[in-house]
Amino acid sequence: MANSKTVLVTGGAGYIGAHTCKELAAHGFAPLVYDNFSTGHPDFVRWGEFVHGDIQDVPRLTRLLLEKKPLGVLHFASSIAVGESVEKPDKYYRNNVYGTLCLLEAMLTAGVRDIVVSGTAAVYGHPDEVPIPESAPFDPASPYGCSKAMVERLLLDFETAYGFRTAVLRYFNAAGADPEGEIGERHEPETHLIPNIFRAACGLIPALKLFGVDYPTPDGSCLRDYIHVCDLASAHRLALEKLVGGQKKLRLNLGTGFGYSVKEVIEHARRVIGKPVPFKVEERRAGDVPALVARADLARKTIGWIATRSSLDSILSTAWRWFEKDSLKKVTL
Ligand code: UFG
Repeated sequence: MANSKTVLVTGGAGYIGAHTCKELAAHGFAPLVYDNFSTGHPDFVRWGEFVHGDIQDVPRLTRLLLEKKPLGVLHFASSIAVGESVEKPDKYYRNNVYGTLCLLEAMLTAGVRDIVVSGTAAVYGHPDEVPIPESAPFDPASPYGCSKAMVERLLLDFETAYGFRTAVLRYFNAAGADPEGEIGERHEPETHLIPNIFRAACGLIPALKLFGVDYPTPDGSCLRDYIHVCDLASAHRLALEKLVGGQKKLRLNLGTGFGYSVKEVIEHARRVIGKPVPFKVEERRAGDVPALVARADLARKTIGWIATRSSLDSILSTAWRWFEKDSLKKVTL
C-alpha cells in the first residue's frame, strides 16, 4: 500500500474536489473519484478513474478500498450551504456526520488509515478573537458548522482508538477557478457571493441580494477571508503527503489572514469585470456571522503551504473567466 499512488477522492466531481484532482494528477498521484453526482458534475471528472457511488454505502466503499488499496483518502463529499442547513438540519447531520462515519468504517475494515477532510471556518461561529487561531473554541452558529465540528470529533476518536492519521483543513471562503478554465464553481442553486455578483452584473438575476448591512463591521456588511480554490487544492496534496510521511494529526486554517467585506467584494468585482453590479439590501441571512478571518500561519509552518493565488484580483479574474465560459455560454446559445 505504501507504494500506491492512488488517492480516493470522495466528492471529487465537486468544486474543490475536482480542482484537487487536477493538483494530484499534476504531482504524480492517481485520483480515484467517488461521487454520487448529487451536487457534483460529470464533466468535472477529468483526472483519474471514476466510480459512481454514495459514501453511505459502506459495503461498496469497503470493497472499493480493498480492491484499489489507495494510500489515503481525501474526503470532500458533504453538504455545504450555511443558510440551507438552518432549514434542513437533518440533511446536514446525515450527509456530513453519518456520511463521514460510514467512510471511516469502510476505511477501518479495509485497513486505510490516512484521511484529509474538508473542514470549515464555520466551526468557530462567533469567535472572541479575529483573526481566528486554530486553537479558538468551537461555537458553530449553524447546523452546517455544527455538523463539521462533529466530524472533527469523530476523527479524533478514530485517531485515538484505531490509529488513524487525520488532517482537517478548515477552509475560509473558497473562491476563484482553475486558471486554465477547465473547471470552476457551479452550484445549483447558487448561494455563494462571487458567482451571484456575476449573475447580477450580467442580468441573470435582477440584483444581488446583499444580506445584512447592520453587522458590527467597518461598513456593516460581513467580513470574509477569500481563498483561491487552487490554493486549497495544493494544501490537500501537501497535507496528504505529510500524513503519509508519518504525521499523526493536522488541524489547519486555510485562509489568507485578510478579510474583505461583502461591499468591498462587490466594488472590486465591478472593477475587474467592468460592469455595474446591481444590489439590493436584504435582511441578514440565517446562520451568517459578522467576521470570519483566519490566522493563517500554522499551515505554512507545518505543511509548507503558501497561498500564492489568493489575491482578490486573481480570485475574481479566474472566477469571471470561468463564469463567462460556463454560465454565459448557456444563456447565449
Ligand atoms: N452573500 C450575500 N449575497 C449572496 C451570497 C452571499 O450578501 O447572494 C454574503 C453572505 O451573507 C456572507 C458572504 O456574502 O456574508 C459570503 O457568503 P457565501 O455564501 O459566499 O459564503 P459563506 O460565508 O456563507 O460560506 C462559505 C462556505 C461554507 C464555509 C464558510 C466559511 O460556503 O462552506 O464559507 O466561511 F463554511
